[in-house]
Amino acid sequence: MNEIVDIGLLTNAGPVEDQVYHGDNLEVMKSMLIHHDMRGKIDLMYIDPPYASDNVFSTSDTRNNTISRKKGGEVAYEDVLKGDDYLAFIQHRLLLMKELLSDTGSVYVHIDNSMGHHVKVIMDEIFGMNNFLNDLSRIKCNPKNFRQKSFGNVKDIILYYSSSGEHTWNDLKVPKTAAQIEKLYKKINDKGQRYTTVPLHAPGETQNGPTGQPWRGVLPPEGRHWRSEPAVLEKLDEDGLIEWSKNGNPRKIKFAKDDEGSRIQDILEYKDPQKPSYPTEKNNSLLSILIQCSSNPGDIVMDCFCGSGSTLNEASKLGRKFIGIDQSPMAIEVTTKRLGLNSNSSSN
Ligand SMILES: C[S@@+](CC[C@H](N)C(=O)[O-])C[C@H]1O[C@@H](n2cnc3c(N)ncnc32)[C@H](O)[C@@H]1O
Repeated sequence: MNEIVDIGLLTNAGPVEDQVYHGDNLEVMKSMLIHHDMRGKIDLMYIDPPYASDNVFSTSDTRNNTISRKKGGEVAYEDVLKGDDYLAFIQHRLLLMKELLSDTGSVYVHIDNSMGHHVKVIMDEIFGMNNFLNDLSRIKCNPKNFRQKSFGNVKDIILYYSSSGEHTWNDLKVPKTAAQIEKLYKKINDKGQRYTTVPLHAPGETQNGPTGQPWRGVLPPEGRHWRSEPAVLEKLDEDGLIEWSKNGNPRKIKFAKDDEGSRIQDILEYKDPQKPSYPTEKNNSLLSILIQCSSNPGDIVMDCFCGSGSTLNEASKLGRKFIGIDQSPMAIEVTTKRLGLNSNSSSN
């Protein structure tokens, strides 16, 4: 543990990407800057560092998620820094991450509510308050009914910052569930197609244009205008995309089959695997979403607290290049296996 690896020596000839480095990320990142000219080269960073939980995470034959201070099981990593020492540890790493981040890059820091708000203040200083984008709430578990004099905690947080405000963003949509589709598209036509109808008018009166005029003798309701010009409305009707109510009110038909899915909001329910390959392993689908939204194929994604390599694995599946760093030999072993890497792509 705590070996310092000079990646300049490790990967003299090879590229820095698609590698996993074993060592203290502070030293590895310094080396990336000094020996490999990686300043401004990373497109996306996700980290899930220790949370100042004062826990030792270990594995045993039966459980891979043990939090223990007792002897037994193999220690995966220790999360024992507290208070100012912890914040200084995070701050030093975030400063180097900022140096490595590209102008169009962004960074996600997964943390919980004990230190998260202090980390946010540090991130505001390093990345700029104006570049703060979201604090995502990640629902991590089912409600617990422990007795305590406060509300139950079912979430952790993910702080999301842009490097410059010009960050990559892909507006990902998630398909609606069958239950959501049934609720939203209640009507079924004679072809068995699920649909709903929406108004053909929108708020605001048009002063002189055709969208303020009667169409088929019907004026838009007071304070509203037709969403489209009469010629467009005629075409919609011709194509069978308008439903007329009994009292002659036209509404546009929207089919369930054309639903593009929902925009992702800032509350994400993605619980971690029940049988993790490493303690505190994060949910793959959650990482997949963050990577798809904030990077493009060919981009470099870095996780310098990579643990079992969840971020790197998703990045690789999505055609991104990856850089992983961890100082735990167990993390390196699990990640190397998971990604099918040659064991000499890490080092100890
Ligand atoms: C919460 S775990 C990450 C879990 C990971 N997200 C996953 O899905 O498996 C935090 C990781 O940070 C690593 N770590 C802690 N301090 C480090 C340091 N200074 N340099 C590199 N890795 C470190 C630990 O070894 C541990 O694997």
